[in-house]
Amino acid sequence: MKLTLTKKQKEFIDRSEAEVLFGGAAGGGKSYGQVADALIFALKYPGSKQLILRRTFAELDKSLIRLALSLYPRQIYSFNQSSHTGRFQNGSIIDFGYCAGELDVYQYQSAEYDVIRFDELTHFTESQYIYLISRVRGANDFPKQVKSTTNPGGIGHGWVKARFVDAHKSGEPFTGEDGLKRIFIPSLLSDNKFLEEGDPEYRRRLLALPERERRALLYGDWNIFEGQYFTEFDPTRHVIAPFEIPPSWRKYRTIDYGLDRLACLWIAIDGERNVYVYRELCESDLIVSRAAEKILELTPPTERIYATLAPPDLWARSQESGRSKALLFSESGLYFTKTANDRETGWLSIKELLRLDKEGRAKLHIFRTCTELIKCLPLLQTDPMYPTDTLTEPHAITHAPDALRGFAIYFSRPTPLAPQTLSHALPADMQADYDRASEEEREYMRRRWGLTP
Ligand SMILES: Nc1ncnc2c1ncn2[C@@H]1O[C@H](COP(=O)(O)OP(=O)(O)O)[C@@H](O)[C@H]1O
Ligand SMILES: [Mg+2]
Repeated sequence: MKLTLTKKQKEFIDRSEAEVLFGGAAGGGKSYGQVADALIFALKYPGSKQLILRRTFAELDKSLIRLALSLYPRQIYSFNQSSHTGRFQNGSIIDFGYCAGELDVYQYQSAEYDVIRFDELTHFTESQYIYLISRVRGANDFPKQVKSTTNPGGIGHGWVKARFVDAHKSGEPFTGEDGLKRIFIPSLLSDNKFLEEGDPEYRRRLLALPERERRALLYGDWNIFEGQYFTEFDPTRHVIAPFEIPPSWRKYRTIDYGLDRLACLWIAIDGERNVYVYRELCESDLIVSRAAEKILELTPPTERIYATLAPPDLWARSQESGRSKALLFSESGLYFTKTANDRETGWLSIKELLRLDKEGRAKLHIFRTCTELIKCLPLLQTDPMYPTDTLTEPHAITHAPDALRGFAIYFSRPTPLAPQTLSHALPADMQADYDRASEEEREYMRRRWGLTP
């Protein structure tokens, strides 16, 4: 059998440091290098044990298992589909594993490997990595190593960048503070002539990607997440499968409205004040009456909404008609409760909800079906002038997060006083303001509006 390898793949295979990362552009030949390296190691050290990991089984099956089956000679290699173990005639084995959940690492508790290989390392959390690399051990003379490949991006981007990319000049070995030898080998698309020649259109397809993905996947740029505002957002923790919300949970709607885009989120609260975003409506070019209609249509008649939250600017009166959008919405049957527009407090309240407790649980959960919110939250950029605020550009990604911010600031306030009946009825928006005011503010309002409780 004859393997032809790129120069970078050869370098990855030859490195002897305890931890090696081959990372960068998509299509640079990283996964191929990983699978080839595993083969070479298995043949060189009869009886050796290796583990190749991907975050989920579906990814593992489609990429690495398939690649190994096509690359490894059938006369010496067989693969057991049910245990995901590849065996060589010389007694060497390669386990193919995955680690979807944080606790999946414990299935490797009693395992021992000479080499552990991570493919798409930035899809793993740091704690998974630290635990798994402790499984590299064994009383034999085979080299002990952790070898990883990855593109930039993904939930583990930050720690991978710190551990390998920023820690030292790339391409040069160094010793980490923990005494382990490491090296980062950058990978470029141009390193892989097999792909460049076999699929000349590939580069063009990468060029057509949005800016951030293009920089990550085409150039292997690690600085793409510089300035990400919600660094604590982790789809594996905060995004969940939809379930039926119990009727007894308190439900809110929260909106951000402009003709350019309406964002409305439906949010439920459980008995422990956990927050579940369970439905979203994000649509452009809806006039007020149409927006109200759509929001009401999407709310089943049996679903009781405690309050519909909206930002204060909806109460601004229009120059021409003298009427506010909040009033127009109320004419279409949607009555709002005014939230506050203190951006910093709002964003920090979201961060509070995203934060993980000691058990790794967050307060905020988003149903998988709320795709726009899930897409936009991690894209928000920190404002370099005011680091506690986000940039308002690109504007298109701000609407769903703004709606969530309105909710978060409302929810983080001390529990509002109970609604009160007054001597005469107030318009809906004033009543809502009154309901969420402190006792001191209420007294002021009553005096100004000539009311008695
Ligand atoms: N040494 C090689 N010989 C033949 N084909 C290769 C080689 N290295 C990579 N390729 C092919 O190039 C493509 C991209 O390689 P891959 O390893 O998937 O890249 P990456 O993991 O860096 O995104 C794949 O189709 C792969 O089979
Ligand atoms: Mg790959």
